[in-house]
Amino acid sequence: MSLQPIAVFDSGLGGLTVLRALRSRLPQEDFFYFADTRFLPYGDRPEIFLKERGVLIAEALAQRGAKALVIACNTATAAAAEAIRAATALPIVALEPGVKPAVGLTKTGVIGVLATTRTLQSERFERLVGNHAAHLKVIAQACPGLAEAIETQGPGSVEVERLLDLFVAPLVAAGADVVVLGCTHYPWVAESIARRMPAGTPLLDTGEPVARQLERLLAAGNLLGGGVGSLTIASSGAPAAVSVTVDRLFGQKIHVEHWEP
Ligand code: DGL
Repeated sequence: MSLQPIAVFDSGLGGLTVLRALRSRLPQEDFFYFADTRFLPYGDRPEIFLKERGVLIAEALAQRGAKALVIACNTATAAAAEAIRAATALPIVALEPGVKPAVGLTKTGVIGVLATTRTLQSERFERLVGNHAAHLKVIAQACPGLAEAIETQGPGSVEVERLLDLFVAPLVAAGADVVVLGCTHYPWVAESIARRMPAGTPLLDTGEPVARQLERLLAAGNLLGGGVGSLTIASSGAPAAVSVTVDRLFGQKIHVEHWEP
């Protein structure tokens, strides 16, 4: 069993920011990364669509031989994590915006959260804020179009910069002193976000804690190790286009195969 790969999925290549942390903590594991680019962006899709799609993907990954699943997408977690857990017996790590660690860091009592519309409108997010940050001011800023612009036009592009001007300004105006990167695409533009915030503002992503949680889960199930550190990247969209984006974001040529769950 431990010889099988760990499956990681996202709507696109945002989850590669999580994968980086997973591979650095668990270098002996093999990974299968699935980018559902045919349906990118997830952020504006109805919850019911994301539930059905998430369950379909998880079942297909289990059938393909994955030993564990990381939902490397805040939007898919918000909409579908419970349905996916109910549908498969795989050990699952689902990530959510780092509101909890932000609570311990803020001095102004104002936390900024950047995420997709679907994530911020979810019950799960409402619960997260209600349980941990009810006493604080949480500026939840939806960023429609940003994940797609990062993926199709790249960090530093005119469109990404334009959108960041729009979405980061309300956090600055409200006096936020911590920014939660509540979408796995946003760490790709962390520097551009940091430049717009007061110097030294912490930007929180969830790669590290997710890697630690995955390690605990694998250890508990006696599933650690056995791989050689291999990585396969697959996409439901055109592999050639995805491959160009992988090169741009990862700075490394990695073969991308087509896979349809
Ligand atoms: N990367 C995804 C997330 O963490 C969603 C991006 C999108 O497809 O809208 O929320």
